[in-house]
Amino acid sequence: MEIKTVGVVGAGTMGSGIAQVFAQAGFSVCLVDVADPMLDRARRAVEKSLGTFVDKGKLTAADRDGSLARLSTATTLDRLVDADYIVETIVENVDAKRALFASLDAIAKPEVVLASNTSSISITVLGAATKRADRVIGMHFMNPVSVMALVEMIRGQVTSAESMRLGSELCLRLGKTPVEAADFPGFIANRILMPMINEAIYAVMEGVGTPQAIDAVMKLGMNHPMGPLALADFIGLDVCLAILNVLQDGLGDPKYRPCPLLRRMVAAGQLGRKSGQGFYSY
Ligand SMILES: NC(=O)c1ccc[n+]([C@@H]2O[C@H](COP(=O)([O-])OP(=O)(O)OC[C@H]3O[C@@H](n4cnc5c(N)ncnc54)[C@H](O)[C@@H]3O)[C@@H](O)[C@H]2O)c1
Repeated sequence: MEIKTVGVVGAGTMGSGIAQVFAQAGFSVCLVDVADPMLDRARRAVEKSLGTFVDKGKLTAADRDGSLARLSTATTLDRLVDADYIVETIVENVDAKRALFASLDAIAKPEVVLASNTSSISITVLGAATKRADRVIGMHFMNPVSVMALVEMIRGQVTSAESMRLGSELCLRLGKTPVEAADFPGFIANRILMPMINEAIYAVMEGVGTPQAIDAVMKLGMNHPMGPLALADFIGLDVCLAILNVLQDGLGDPKYRPCPLLRRMVAAGQLGRKSGQGFYSY
């Protein structure tokens, strides 16, 4: 089946970026969220990002306008009945994702592959909520989607080789590089990244250094482009906590225990950039 129309469910930080890169690559995209304010915010984010590319001379104004014209939005899943490929990128919660996968399975054409942008949750578990587990894959984009080259591709226990091939081909059409990972909690990226972020948060809590000092050490000393605490704010502290919970539940090792300071900040609504306050103020 030729992929022409792509559905993206969840219009947050990642959903807007994923919708944007598919629209830029020429696909017709329908972005779905639960309410209009999220969709309005996502459209503004896409407009801003495309505008930056035009300002930098990396995109023509005509291509920007064409991309925006290919992007539609909806608040109900039934708009995805004609989609040829669907990417789920809602909140990092296994029950919410399983419920959505069951609904998508009921709505989408039988041959459609359902991809999840989950950071850590088992693709096999999401696939088991459907009757098409062979056509459920992990397609883990990095933030910001329009800039980052990697897409981590996750094969569930019964995901077919054909579904993986389709997902990887789409990555290449988006100008991204697919790298395959097995279906373990956190896959490759967050298995390695989140313990570092968590340790940086413990270092703040224990007074080893200020957020500025910790980020400076990792940037200037380890050549990281961004310090771990600035990165945590960028990802969203609620998302970091959700991923660490999956790592701890799935791998059982106390080393993945989310730092109490992270739990406290999330409980207080300090979620990083998206709330205006995290380890830094925005
Ligand atoms: N933030 C990152 O840096 C990052 C990077 C890679 C992957 N991810 C993953 O991407 C997913 C989304 O993360 P995010 O940071 O964009 O979250 P976010 O909180 O910014 O956005 C989530 C969006 O999903 C919507 N939503 C929730 N339930 C829904 C439903 N049932 N139907 C439709 N929409 C629904 C919410 O209204 C919200 O707009 C998560 O699985 C996360 O782990 C995040």
